[in-house]
Amino acid sequence: MNVQNQNAYEGKHTADATTVEEGLAIQEEQAKYDDDFATNTAMMNTLLTPRFYTTDFDELDAIDVSGVREDWDKLIEQMVSDPNKGHFKKNEAWDHVDWDGMEPQLKKEFIDFLISSCTAEFSGCVLYKEMKRRGNNKDITQLFQLMARDEARHAGFINDALREAGLRVNLGFLTQSKKYTYFRPKFIYYATYLSEKIGYARYITIFRHLEANPELRFHPIFKWFEEWCNDEFSHGEAFALLMKTDPKLTSGKNLLWIKFFLTAVYATMYVRDHQRPAFHKALGVDPDWYAHEVFTKTSKLSEQIFPITLDIEHPRWQPTLERLHRANVQIAKAKEAGGFGGKLNQLIGSAKAAMCFVSLYTIPAKKHQVPQSTRLEPAY
Ligand SMILES: [Fe+2]
Ligand SMILES: [Fe+2]
Repeated sequence: MNVQNQNAYEGKHTADATTVEEGLAIQEEQAKYDDDFATNTAMMNTLLTPRFYTTDFDELDAIDVSGVREDWDKLIEQMVSDPNKGHFKKNEAWDHVDWDGMEPQLKKEFIDFLISSCTAEFSGCVLYKEMKRRGNNKDITQLFQLMARDEARHAGFINDALREAGLRVNLGFLTQSKKYTYFRPKFIYYATYLSEKIGYARYITIFRHLEANPELRFHPIFKWFEEWCNDEFSHGEAFALLMKTDPKLTSGKNLLWIKFFLTAVYATMYVRDHQRPAFHKALGVDPDWYAHEVFTKTSKLSEQIFPITLDIEHPRWQPTLERLHRANVQIAKAKEAGGFGGKLNQLIGSAKAAMCFVSLYTIPAKKHQVPQSTRLEPAY
C-alpha cells in the first residue's frame, strides 16, 4: 500500500531535524494545534519578556575568524558531530504529568515559565537563522546554521511539553508578527553571549539540584536540562570567539556597555524569577539563593572574555535587587488597578526601578586579566 503523506514533515519530530529549516517545517505542520493564549503571551513585549532581535547582518558577515581558527574549528567540529541529535523528544523517561491535579498557582507559573522559555529559544533561532540566510561568509553561516538548528529543537521540545497542557506557541505566527528590536552587532554579541551563558548556568543549577533531590522534580522536562545546557554552553563559546576576533569589543569605552548588559541581564533574571514564587517553592529552590548561584557561575564563565565582572557581594547589590523587585510589583499592581491612580503609581514604580538600576550599575566592577585561551568546557 502506498500511503503518501500530504506533508513530508507529518509525523516527524523536531529532535531529529538536522537543519533549522526542517525543524521549523515540522513545527509549522503541527501548528494546526496552536493555541491563542500561549501565542499571545509569547507576543508580549515588555522590559521583562523575551524579545526578537535583528541586526546589521553585513557587518556580522564580515568577521574574519582566522585569528581564532584553531579554537573555532574545534568548536564547529564538535557542533557538526551533533551529540544531541534525537535527544529532545519524549521517551520512556518522560513521566506522566498530572496537569489537572497540579496546584493552580504552580500550573500558572510553570506554564508562564515554559512559554517564556520557548519564546527565548525561538528568539535565538530566528536571529541565527536570519544570519545564516543573509550571510556569505562560510564560517559565519555555518556557525549560525548549527546554532539555529539547536534552538529550533529546544523550542520544539518545550512546545511538546506545552501541548500536554493543551497549549502551543505558534512559532510561524511569531516570526511574522512579533516586533523585532534592532541591536548593533556588538550589542548582539554582549546580549547573546550573556543569555547563552546565563541560560547554561540556570539549566545546570536546576539540573544538579534536582539530581540531588529527585522527589522535587515535578515535571520530566528537567531531566533533559543537562544536554540542553551543553548546547547553550557551545553557543556561548561561539560568541566568545567572535568577540575575541576584535579586542576593541572587550576594552575601552565598551566596558561600560559590557557592564550595562551584565547588570541588565542579571537584574532582569532576578525580577522575572521572583514573579514565580510557587514554581520555585515546588522545586525547593530559594529564588535568592538561585539568583546568587547563577550569577556566580555566569560571572566565573564570563571571565573568559570580559575583563570585568559585577561585584555581587557588594553590600548594595542584594538589597537593591530586592527594591527593584518591589518596584516591579508596584508597577504590575498599578497596571491592574488602572485609572489615574494606577497611572500615577506606575510612574512612581518606574522611577523607583530606574533608580535601582542606576544604583546597581554604579557599584564598582571587579577587574581581572582575561586568559590567553578563551575556550572552556562545561564544568558545573
Ligand atoms: Fe537553546
Ligand atoms: Fe542557545
